[in-house]
Amino acid sequence: MPLSSFNIAPDHNLIGGLWVPPVTGDTLPLINPSDGSDICVIARSGAQDVDHAVTAAHTALNGAWGAMTALERGRILTRIGELVLQRVDDLAQIEAMDVGKPLTQARADAVALARYMEFYGGAADKVMGETIPYLDGYTVYTLREPHGVTGHIIPWNYPMQIIGRSVGAALAMGNACVLKPAEEACLTALAFAAIAQEAGLPDGALNVVNGTGPEAGAALCAHPGMQHLSFTGSVRTGEAVQAAAARNVVPVTLELGGKSPQLVFDDADLDRALPFLVNAGIQNAGQTCSASSRILVQRGVYDTVCDAMAKAYRGLVVGAAQDDRHLGPLISQRQKEIVSGFIEQGADLTVAATGQIDTNAPESGAYVVPTLFKDVPPDHALARDEIFGPVQVIIPFDTEDEAVQIANGTDYGLVAAVWTLDGGRQMRLAKRLQAGQVFINNYGAGGGVELPFGGVGKSGHGREKGFEALYGFSALKTVAAWHG
Ligand code: NAI
Ligand code: MG
Repeated sequence: MPLSSFNIAPDHNLIGGLWVPPVTGDTLPLINPSDGSDICVIARSGAQDVDHAVTAAHTALNGAWGAMTALERGRILTRIGELVLQRVDDLAQIEAMDVGKPLTQARADAVALARYMEFYGGAADKVMGETIPYLDGYTVYTLREPHGVTGHIIPWNYPMQIIGRSVGAALAMGNACVLKPAEEACLTALAFAAIAQEAGLPDGALNVVNGTGPEAGAALCAHPGMQHLSFTGSVRTGEAVQAAAARNVVPVTLELGGKSPQLVFDDADLDRALPFLVNAGIQNAGQTCSASSRILVQRGVYDTVCDAMAKAYRGLVVGAAQDDRHLGPLISQRQKEIVSGFIEQGADLTVAATGQIDTNAPESGAYVVPTLFKDVPPDHALARDEIFGPVQVIIPFDTEDEAVQIANGTDYGLVAAVWTLDGGRQMRLAKRLQAGQVFINNYGAGGGVELPFGGVGKSGHGREKGFEALYGFSALKTVAAWHG
């Protein structure tokens, strides 16, 4: 079985290069959401384990890891990327089992993880400071230095991609990391850490501590030895992470999801738009921070778009991850209850179409029927709240101004897309839409690791991915030398 092919102890943490059990010996069950079966148990860590990991990270910074040049760090990251590429199928297998992701999507995440390592491996020695013209007698320049020990609290929806963008960038800048995966899905985090060890990452440069959010996660955020926190997950937990960071006065990067709209105008290339309109909503069963859960359509093409999306929905099949259908289960029964609750809130709305659950899908899996609502008022809960399931709403509009007002009318601002062939409108809306990324005649641009990503409003702050992340994971020092 692929799990045993990795050099990991799932019920242990990786601290200072050693697999150690949590001090209490406590464990948590890890569930396969495709059928509700137990996969294994994982460490249920607490404050003491976190403290050991933070200490190990500081030791690495004061030792072999901290002494490495940017070139050496880059080579190790590049090597990790090579090893990840060799293990793509095994990583995809364990991710599919743990997260419930259809195999093809799990595989794409593993390839993306490798790509992050290649990108940040190559970038590690290309982050430069500046020289600043200043008063007579001075030479002034800037240095980009690691923060020190960085904490990475990640969710269960895209473990590999989020490890890639967060840990990859932090390591490239020379930080030592403590990674707290989600308690629902943590196997690829452990496998990644084992691969990094194999690639020659010094002990303690990456530590993995498993456990619940309120226990291990909160302990990590509160630890006075942390120098930066990055978090991806819910707004509520993001607030707690930022409050904890404030108490230690450390910088924090938050990526808190969204309610990302696509705006379809009468002149749009609908043949091109249609697959994006649907896929951006149902990919990973809608459990995507940048999921497009709102489709705003101009009246002239409204019925055409509703009919075409409805037809696509009727063809959607939900099944076990191993069966590699369009969608897998949700991560847990709890998540299924939350999403089902949202669908019930839409009882007063018009259902344009639904997908179907594969007859082979085990009864005990966390499956939800993909549901497309139309004619949805912009102030309805389904049009405002993040659902995090395979549910999309279609909202009609008349004018460009109205479309912008609706698009910007939620608390969030992660991603937005505009479908129009009018060049002026493309440029206008790229400026007017409140989002960290705006896509013109596409959605997501293939997820490129090169593209800075992050939100405004309740979607969070700070930027991950691309070169920009390297600035976030470093502190700028100004050196002013007087030489007369
Ligand atoms: P969550 O935000 O509670 O969990 C995400 C991570 O934070 C996990 O590793 C968890 O252990 C950790 N955590 C939880 N409480 C913590 C605390 N007090 N201190 C430090 N770390 C803590 O999200 P959850 O409960 O898994 O999902 C709930 C909702 O959050 C979803 O329905 C969805 O709307 C949203 N979400 C958004 C994600 C995104 O990609 N932006 C990812 C996951 C969830
Ligand atoms: Mg699981």
